[in-house]
Amino acid sequence: MPRLPQTDPGITPEPIRPGIDVVINRENFRHTGDPSMPLLWYLRDVLRLTGCKYGCDDATCGACSVLVDGKLARACELPMQKLQGHRITTVEGLAQADGSLHPLQQAWIDEDAILCGYCQPGMLIAAVDLLARKPDPSDDDIDGIKNLCRCGSYPRVRAAIQRAAAKMKGAPK
Ligand code: FES
Ligand code: FES
Repeated sequence: MPRLPQTDPGITPEPIRPGIDVVINRENFRHTGDPSMPLLWYLRDVLRLTGCKYGCDDATCGACSVLVDGKLARACELPMQKLQGHRITTVEGLAQADGSLHPLQQAWIDEDAILCGYCQPGMLIAAVDLLARKPDPSDDDIDGIKNLCRCGSYPRVRAAIQRAAAKMKGAPK
């Protein structure tokens, strides 16, 4: 009868980590890997939700913007261990389950706001946050969004947010 290989006494197994339960785009997930993993990499590398982008090393660009319990946050600076029980929304979660677009997504299309596109998922999330706080934003409010666009899409983004704000108030535009 073949003998099973002996376990190397020099190898210490990884401790079993407790799971971190999160709700992402209305679905439940349990992260059992490194608790210090930033949310950005959990989204992109584990769940393959690649809308959230990596754009800088110092949490300034906003390309990785998400909503955590409805509030704007930067996924690159949020370790998974801080997210137990929280609800996260990424750009993939803005449309309805039946595929109908969020008014901001439709306005982005109508205003042709997307240039190279890299920053735009973060811009959309920041715009959702802005309209939740200020349903009737001024241009200055919109310009206060702290997301960077290397293509200079700011005027189109401004027009798209104003269009969506009007639509969400029921006014034609
Ligand atoms: S990648 Fe998170 S702010 Fe730039
Ligand atoms: S559209 Fe290219 S970086 Fe913003």
